[in-house]
Amino acid sequence: MHTMRVVPAAQEEDDPGGPAGHSPLAGLYAVSRACDEPGPAMSWRHFSASVRSGAGGERAEAWAACDAGQDDGTRTDGTRTGGDQVVGGQVVGGHILHFPQDDNTHLALLRLMTHPLRRREGVGGMLLDHAIGRARDEGRRVLIAEAPADGPGTAFAKARGFSPASTETRLVLDLRTADRSGLELLRARAVRHATGYSLERWAGPTPDDLLGDIARLAEGMNDEPLGDLAVEEQRWTADRVRAREEMLARAGQRTYTMIARHTASGEPAGFTQLVVDAERPEGWARQDVTTVLAPHRGRRLGLVLKLANLTWFRACEPSVERVITWNSVANPHMLAINEAMGFEVFDTWYQWQLDI
Ligand SMILES: CC(C)(COP(=O)(O)OP(=O)(O)OC[C@H]1O[C@@H](n2cnc3c(N)ncnc32)[C@H](O)[C@@H]1OP(=O)(O)O)[C@@H](O)C(=O)NCCC(=O)NCCS
Repeated sequence: MHTMRVVPAAQEEDDPGGPAGHSPLAGLYAVSRACDEPGPAMSWRHFSASVRSGAGGERAEAWAACDAGQDDGTRTDGTRTGGDQVVGGQVVGGHILHFPQDDNTHLALLRLMTHPLRRREGVGGMLLDHAIGRARDEGRRVLIAEAPADGPGTAFAKARGFSPASTETRLVLDLRTADRSGLELLRARAVRHATGYSLERWAGPTPDDLLGDIARLAEGMNDEPLGDLAVEEQRWTADRVRAREEMLARAGQRTYTMIARHTASGEPAGFTQLVVDAERPEGWARQDVTTVLAPHRGRRLGLVLKLANLTWFRACEPSVERVITWNSVANPHMLAINEAMGFEVFDTWYQWQLDI
């Protein structure tokens, strides 16, 4: 193995090269693209925003493993780097850590990757040691990472002592072949069980007067079954909702949000959100959070919300062909909704946990 160095891959505002540049971050993005699984790919804008902060307000840091042995001061395009400067082309792997700030401060969320052409050389193991060190320095006790079930991440995580803590399937709804009239019929039937609620919707940032409602609704996600993951309840405030939206906007992500309100009490009852990369949708959208607060469950509100939001979304984003969503296998209620809508299993991922 060449001599490796792990260097910060910070977002460089003044990096003129962007994804094609020579910065460690550009190199890390190239590795990330080389590791892409089928499904929607992360745009450079989304990637570079996500290494500055997570969508839940997590502090983020990114590190690149560089093949120092090859750094003779010459870039791959022949230009000089100035000696020991690291160039994007030499990045062979890296890791991104997210440190929750508002809750779950015992956790570090890890994304670890080695370029497919440089695997089984010890790069991943070295990066994991580095990530564990950084997480310990931050006072974190548990590392969580996810990987496709049938990929090398499974063998790697087992070899390094991680335990499987949760299994999630990704499901896809193909809008090109979806049965539109069937979906309308499903919605008409479901609405009959959900009387006494009105729907409200908006694209982009939440209006100021609704931020408190969204914070309450976001805490409904705390009831989501999480398997053996050592994750505590999340606390949401209006400020945190706004910060999440600002991060998504920086990342070029456009959101379509719908909430259900209980007419008699005026209380928020449930919400759902679809997200699309505004610049590079490439045919994909993501079905993000859906939650119904406990007093309002059992009235098919989740299905009504998802179907109504999807109808509106399709009218606004006609180029989107497929919607992808995550579903914990421990969450049969959401799985039933997704299957009723015609979502089909795409692949399976494990979430791995390591006490550090
Ligand atoms: C998982 C991943 C980071 C491993 O990177 P790597 O640089 O190949 O890892 P290492 O060379 O340090 O491997 C360490 C050990 O993990 C195990 N391992 C890694 N890949 C393996 C594979 N494909 N099959 C069997 N064992 C494997 C082995 O025990 C290996 O030690 P060995 O080579 O001496 O037998 C890399 O395959 C990758 O980027 N995968 C896609 C992203 C991903 O799944 N990340 C999540 C990791 S939890």
